[in-house]
Amino acid sequence: MDAPLRLPATQGTAGACWAAGAPGVRPRGSHFLKARRSKKAMILNKGTVYVAAVVLVPLICNRAWAQGKLGTMASPLKLTAGECKTCHPRYYQEWKQSYHARSVVAMQTGFKKYIITQELAKRRVLNRDELMGCLGCHAPVMRFAADEDLARLVQLVETDQRDALAGLNVDCVACHTLVASNHPEAKSAGKLGRQVYYGTIKNPVSAPHGTQYAAKMEKSEFCKPCHSYVTPADMKVDADWDIVCALTYDAWAAGPYGPKAKKAHLRECQSCHMEKKDGKAAEVASATIPMRKVSSHLFPGWHDAAVLQRAVEIYVSSKRGTKIGTAELTVTIDNKAGHRFPDT
Ligand code: HEC
Ligand code: HEC
Ligand code: HEC
Ligand code: HEC
Ligand code: HEC
Repeated sequence: MDAPLRLPATQGTAGACWAAGAPGVRPRGSHFLKARRSKKAMILNKGTVYVAAVVLVPLICNRAWAQGKLGTMASPLKLTAGECKTCHPRYYQEWKQSYHARSVVAMQTGFKKYIITQELAKRRVLNRDELMGCLGCHAPVMRFAADEDLARLVQLVETDQRDALAGLNVDCVACHTLVASNHPEAKSAGKLGRQVYYGTIKNPVSAPHGTQYAAKMEKSEFCKPCHSYVTPADMKVDADWDIVCALTYDAWAAGPYGPKAKKAHLRECQSCHMEKKDGKAAEVASATIPMRKVSSHLFPGWHDAAVLQRAVEIYVSSKRGTKIGTAELTVTIDNKAGHRFPDT
């Protein structure tokens, strides 16, 4: 899909707009301003450089307008994490605290820089594929969003409206249907009863939705599509601005716990990031839910002080130095993470 995304009609007012521009946005020539004032010019020049001007103006000049009208963004799917909360409250609470639950809010600054610099370089708004180049991992369900919603998302990102973006994330549905099913393009059904959730319980009790055992979900392979990434050359913002989002999979695969290690040493991502404990996988009054080994959904990483503390062990030993009055210190840093530390 190459056509530029359509945006709501602008209410741009001329004036000292560019002065209030976002960091990194350079003022442009007066022909852009002309295009912006005339609706006719907009239509005539659709698809050319003028389109970019039409988009950036409301973003940069009319923050107040944008804040008033844009509203908050939500998943384009009917079933979201909120619908799982009733019966899976622990999973919901844990996931909510994780970085998977704020995967757009947390990347907003970098996303904004990416969008603005790409729009300036390409002299047009970014299309669906270019935006999904980031959202495919940061908010996979946006692949089902309408063009208008993607355009609105761009406006929210460019005007730093993080609160309005909080509803976009990597949620239960993204992992338990899209990624786990191997058919991420299949839109989930609107009704819970018609949905299949893939998981690692081999013998689930009868659930109000379909369940399917997926062995892959216990393996690092499951995390790989999102945790292995370097910006492709045509998506670079500057020659030196690589978005190395996530290379933990690659580092793990080459490291002491990956497939190259002795079998006894192999540790999947889940063993460190989704610790198992005794508990119930669902809380439903109408059924007896058995105790099982259940997985934490907190996904702690470098934002978590306790995990960071466990990431390295530092040993210091000393002995008398060869010269009088000196000591020799040996500092050993042992990396306990299954991959590079820090990642990027
Ligand atoms: C293949 C999946 C993938 C793609 C595609 C991707 N990201 Fe990421 N991104 C991640 C993951 C996973 C992390 C978290 C890495 C970590 O914490 O080690 C991340 C982290 C980030 C961060 C840091 C967020 C923070 O919490 O500080 C930014 C900014 C970011 N990405 C921006 C982008 C932009 C902009 C694009 C598109 C050009 C993009 N990402 C495309 C997977 C992806
Ligand atoms: C009305 C209650 C209810 C709701 C709502 C609900 N579930 Fe479930 N779910 C269950 C029950 C009961 C089980 C079986 C638990 C067991 O056997 O221990 C289950 C099991 C699961 C499993 C494990 C499947 C397996 O075979 O490993 C997954 C994954 C799952 N649910 C995801 C979801 C998601 C995602 C949502 C929200 C979109 C959701 N559920 C909403 C009741 C519910
Ligand atoms: C042996 C335990 C262990 C294994 C196995 C492991 N991790 Fe980690 N991981 C850690 C620790 C400890 C940290 C915190 C230190 C750090 O940031 O590297 C961490 C941090 C992370 C972070 C945040 C990284 C950053 O610095 O931005 C991500 C993302 C992550 N792990 C994903 C994965 C994925 C995906 C896998 C599997 C491919 C994996 N981990 C395997 C222990 C592990
Ligand atoms: C980032 C991906 C991801 C997200 C987001 C996620 N899960 Fe999971 N979930 C997994 C994986 C992977 C497993 C299997 C872990 C294992 O067995 O080692 C799992 C396991 C489960 C199970 C099976 C029992 C267990 O504890 O192992 C249930 C039920 C479940 N998740 C429900 C949920 C619900 C409800 C949400 C949203 C509130 C959610 N998950 C969000 C990846 C995810
Ligand atoms: C659909 C894509 C997707 C899948 C699948 C996925 N993740 Fe993530 N994960 C992300 C994104 C995006 C972020 C970064 C959020 C941010 O900071 O912007 C993230 C963040 C994390 C973090 C937090 C790192 C930090 O910054 O503190 C950990 C740990 C993590 N993921 C582990 C895993 C593990 C383990 C699996 C597999 C069981 C997995 N993820 C599966 C997309 C995914």
